[in-house]
Amino acid sequence: MCGIVGYIGNRDAYPVLIKGLKRLEYRGYDSAGVALINAQGQLDVYKTKGKVADLENFVVEKDVSGTIGIAHTRWATHGEPNSANAHPHVSSSRNLALVHNGIIENYATIKAKLLAKGYKFCSETDTEVLVQLIEYVQISNHLSLFKAVQLALRQVIGAYAIAVLDKKNPKEIVVARKSSPLVIGVGDNEYFVGSDASPIVEYTNKVVYLKDGEIACITLGKDLEIVNLNNVKMVPEIKDVEFNLGKLEKGGYPHFMLKEVFEQPDCIIDCMRGRVNVESQKVLLSAVIDHKDKLLNARRFIIVACGTSWHAGLIGKRLIESFCRIPVEVNYASEFRYSDPLIDERDVVIAISQSGETADTLAAIELAKSKGAFIYGICNAIGSSIPRSTETGSYIHVGPEIGVASTKAFTGQVTVLTILALALAQEKHTMTKELFIKVLDELNRIPEKMKEVLYLDQQISNLAKIFTYAHNFIYMGRGYSYPVALEGALKLKEISYIHAEGYPAAEMKHGPIALVDIEMPVVVIATSGSLYEKVVSNVQEIKARKGRIIAIVTKGDQVISKMADWIIEIPETLECLDPLLTTLPLQLLAYHIAVCKGMNVDQPRNLAKSVTVE
Ligand code: G6P
Repeated sequence: MCGIVGYIGNRDAYPVLIKGLKRLEYRGYDSAGVALINAQGQLDVYKTKGKVADLENFVVEKDVSGTIGIAHTRWATHGEPNSANAHPHVSSSRNLALVHNGIIENYATIKAKLLAKGYKFCSETDTEVLVQLIEYVQISNHLSLFKAVQLALRQVIGAYAIAVLDKKNPKEIVVARKSSPLVIGVGDNEYFVGSDASPIVEYTNKVVYLKDGEIACITLGKDLEIVNLNNVKMVPEIKDVEFNLGKLEKGGYPHFMLKEVFEQPDCIIDCMRGRVNVESQKVLLSAVIDHKDKLLNARRFIIVACGTSWHAGLIGKRLIESFCRIPVEVNYASEFRYSDPLIDERDVVIAISQSGETADTLAAIELAKSKGAFIYGICNAIGSSIPRSTETGSYIHVGPEIGVASTKAFTGQVTVLTILALALAQEKHTMTKELFIKVLDELNRIPEKMKEVLYLDQQISNLAKIFTYAHNFIYMGRGYSYPVALEGALKLKEISYIHAEGYPAAEMKHGPIALVDIEMPVVVIATSGSLYEKVVSNVQEIKARKGRIIAIVTKGDQVISKMADWIIEIPETLECLDPLLTTLPLQLLAYHIAVCKGMNVDQPRNLAKSVTVE
């Protein structure tokens, strides 16, 4: 996590850096800082605990002039979020300033060596160790900054994206990356640096995605110079990036999360565009067309993902197994990477990630690749690391997601997984024509039905007021609704800090039901479908213990509606598509409870949207 921005050119750097940091705040917001070299060659470093807005207040009446600078918004790993630990960090001579996203794993060993040589440290961070190491290498070998960074990084184990300035050379920024993303924007006699393209696209659509192990020297008035750690010259690949800046604004909504919840009907249309064709009764997924043999002959699929994307994976498993009869395993990427998995070239790994940058998911991909598996990525962020490291894949095309709690990405992922399952079934002939067409038709109707669900916003907002003071919540569901229960509970935890658990409804009696009393709100996803009667029994068990039931039911429901304390009625659809509708009221419930509690919905404490550390 952490966001990095850099600028060198003829504009004032500070406004570019601040605007960029705001765009990257989804990556962390524990502290923020900026380093600028002014016209007199002085290096000014300002940093403070808190958000980018706190940094803006902090620099009022300070000198923020200069046409070269780097900036950072932090998600703390080493050392608490205070201003001493905030980036940029400076070297002992105060000539170098550095911002870093990632973790230097062997920082303690390097720090011990530098301490022995008389270096002093002002923070607890691994980053300060890195800037001191670079300076040490630079001074002891009389090297340029570019060369010193290259040599210093050879001693480093870990993950990093860095940007470094040297006050002695105010026309140059050196950047490098390994496992953490870094993008360079190429303008007209100016360069930009960002953890992603969002701080850059306003000024130029020409970008270079730095590759793992590459170091770039960005010099004003010169072409980019890129080498790898072994000093082999690399040719910069300049790409065009498309970005809708409007999507980075709140568009009249009080929070990005609410905007993104309401965008879902349109997102699903975008996600299906060109892929779902109701007239011809076909689905078209280019990855399946291009890699038919590999996918159809897979021994099994292994889904790897984290957080909300993992929940989407659980739904994907059901869809693929039911439509295509291919066995599917779903793993947390963080567990998979250290599990010595039994996997080989007969397996297909599906990596699901909104950001395309999650460190554990990337590591799981690398492991699977090393064992010969075929890798399929399902991502949202175009051009991010996962799509670039996979053999094929499908973007979910829901547009930038800014709210830290993932919403539209989840339904986008479930939609792509549904299309993938249909595309494979179409080739494998594992579904009857009737069922195939029925699913296709219903999928096509989902955006309209989502709109109906979103009309319930006011009802859900009223309901939320009742639960503002709840300390615990249980969410339960079965079949396709079990992952939805997990996702509903996660949303509530993330943004309202209320403890919430998702359970398979029938598992309640094996322990969690002991928690149920008159104080316990229990959200039940109880739509009509093959397991409805079973869920009725589970609801009865909760009712008998006086739990307070909030039921998500299908419009016209007669049984559970009479048992529940509150009901939320959603339109009928096929059981396999239910998650695309049932998730929405749970997103809204979490949102409104968090708003009632006065929480920072878009930037909840301790979280970040892009988790680039393991
Ligand atoms: C973080 C985010 C979650 C997200 C998870 C996985 O924890 O806050 O919203 O689900 O990372 O991220 P990914 O980008 O790989 O889907």
